[in-house]
Amino acid sequence: ADLNLQEIHDTLISVAHEAGRMMLAANPTDIAQGTKINSVDIVTEADKAVEALVSSRLLKAYPNFAFIGEETYKPGMKLTSTPTFIVDPIDGTTNFIHGFPSACISLGLAVDHTPTVGVVYNPWLDQLYTAIRGQGAFLTQGANWGVEGGAGRKNKLPIAKNPAPLRGLDSSLVSIEWGSHRDGPNYELKTEVFKKLCASKETGGAMVHSLRSMGSAALNLCAVAAGQLDVYWEGGCWAWDVCAAWCILAEAGGLMAGGNPGVWEPKIDDRKYLAVRGAPSGQKELVQEFWAVIGDGQ
Ligand code: IPD
Repeated sequence: ADLNLQEIHDTLISVAHEAGRMMLAANPTDIAQGTKINSVDIVTEADKAVEALVSSRLLKAYPNFAFIGEETYKPGMKLTSTPTFIVDPIDGTTNFIHGFPSACISLGLAVDHTPTVGVVYNPWLDQLYTAIRGQGAFLTQGANWGVEGGAGRKNKLPIAKNPAPLRGLDSSLVSIEWGSHRDGPNYELKTEVFKKLCASKETGGAMVHSLRSMGSAALNLCAVAAGQLDVYWEGGCWAWDVCAAWCILAEAGGLMAGGNPGVWEPKIDDRKYLAVRGAPSGQKELVQEFWAVIGDGQ
């Protein structure tokens, strides 16, 4: 059946705003916190409450769609070709509990395994990234962010396809994340990659301009989409961290490759990703340069 993507997009935006109000109203230092795989893999009552709100709103509006959410995910749940909402109620939970204003609600729709609509909303900064497949990516934010217009006004601006060519890793601002796994081979791989990215060329490193971590996979991807970061690499995030922002990245001319060498067409649930900003040239070369830093990966 033909999907009304515009209507789905508008519904996702209104749900994101409602969820954003709920996040702002929650006091993360007061609310009950729990942990998942270890003490840094945190979940709060707000994560669960926002997911409950989002799933009830979305499944009421689209009862035939599937739903995968971070807080209700069970191992073995598989993404099918059915239109599926893929949702992270609070991406950046660690920032949320520390009051660091880089966290968002990430609402994606995958159709036939392809990110098709994406809405990423940071309620603290009132920044809304949106995209529908084939229709461009947009950022709506308060006019006091240096864009045209008077204070208090909102501007919805297309995210321009970036005109600046990429010049290689040594001219790149790269985002990475520690994620929650802090031991084992995955941790060693991350540590090695971060060291090699930063080290001087004399010592065999790539000497990138620097490393950044937004603390939210979705916001890392949106920053790459907006051209604020050149590259983002993570080995360990989930479909709900990436689905929405992947659509935004692709619509802004960005490239999503796999976090492991040789993967040019990653799947939504591959867990390892390498995103490169939009540019008229240099994207594939940068991916290859990054893969060379990783070596065989894992
Ligand atoms: C996490 C954040 C973090 C990333 C992890 C994610 P959560 O999501 O996006 O930046 O490193 O891989 O799981 O737990 O805050 O929803």
